[in-house]
Amino acid sequence: MPGANSVTSNQETIHKDLEKVVRKYARTTFLRPIADHTREAFAEAETFVEKFYGKNGDPGTASGVTNAIRDGAPGANAETEPRAVILDSGCGTGESTIHIARRYPNIPVIGIDKSGMRLTKAGNPAQTAGENVPPNAFWIRAELLDFWRLALERVQAGEWTIPYHAVYYPNPWPKQSEATRRFHMHPIFPTLLSLGETIELRTNWEIYAREFAEAARIATKELYRFPALRFEDDKVEINKGDSRSRAGMTITCESFDPENPETAFERKYKDAGQKLWRVVVALPQ
Ligand SMILES: C[S@@+](CC[C@H](N)C(=O)[O-])C[C@H]1O[C@@H](n2cnc3c(N)ncnc32)[C@H](O)[C@@H]1O
Repeated sequence: MPGANSVTSNQETIHKDLEKVVRKYARTTFLRPIADHTREAFAEAETFVEKFYGKNGDPGTASGVTNAIRDGAPGANAETEPRAVILDSGCGTGESTIHIARRYPNIPVIGIDKSGMRLTKAGNPAQTAGENVPPNAFWIRAELLDFWRLALERVQAGEWTIPYHAVYYPNPWPKQSEATRRFHMHPIFPTLLSLGETIELRTNWEIYAREFAEAARIATKELYRFPALRFEDDKVEINKGDSRSRAGMTITCESFDPENPETAFERKYKDAGQKLWRVVVALPQ
């Protein structure tokens, strides 16, 4: 892990091309072929979800299944209802996955990272304070840009719903010349935005937070204006035939001071006295 230095950048405010880039990608589809290894990882994640909800598997063999059904987890009993799934994208050593899994014990939480090295630390006793790993926590090694597109297919097919999506401390790519590697200036952004009902981004770089919030505002407007949706007075109206509405969506961007850091990077930044930021993009519940 790099040291806890503040982000240094040759950029002092929101990137000058933000609007242009976000609007362009909102009108295009990211077509890069999906890597086989992420398809395989995604299939593993699907199996975990199915087992958690007790379908296509012996309900008794997936830990946590009995509780999930008894407590009425969303989608636990209904064949036709989408299954609730939470994503912890770029989970690193997976600490946040455990916190989120404890917060939502009836929903499977999938921690995803491309670094096998970081994932080997996931669920170790230091992270769980000696307790068992929550049965709804699961980690896989995968490429997010591919995993998100596969997950969106499930959402659009009405099989999954993602009530919460954590994107905690993504690589900031602070050089202006690398700005299009930031998730919100990348062609993947419309997919990220369409995936979850609530997305929470955390970062130690204020500009990243402000850009992400602004990009969400621009992309939502762009995405839902045409062809089927109208955007009026900051409300998106849904037309017949569309499965998702962004009506009443809120975007908040604020600094925060976590009492108990939930990730390795969050702890490091807090210990170094850095200001932390979060953006929450949320549909009304
Ligand atoms: C700065 S670290 C933050 C890790 C963790 N969220 C934390 O706060 O401790 C960013 C993480 O995102 C992962 N990552 C970055 N880009 C990724 C991608 N395209 N697909 C999968 N993982 C990615 C990296 O491997 C790294 O573990």
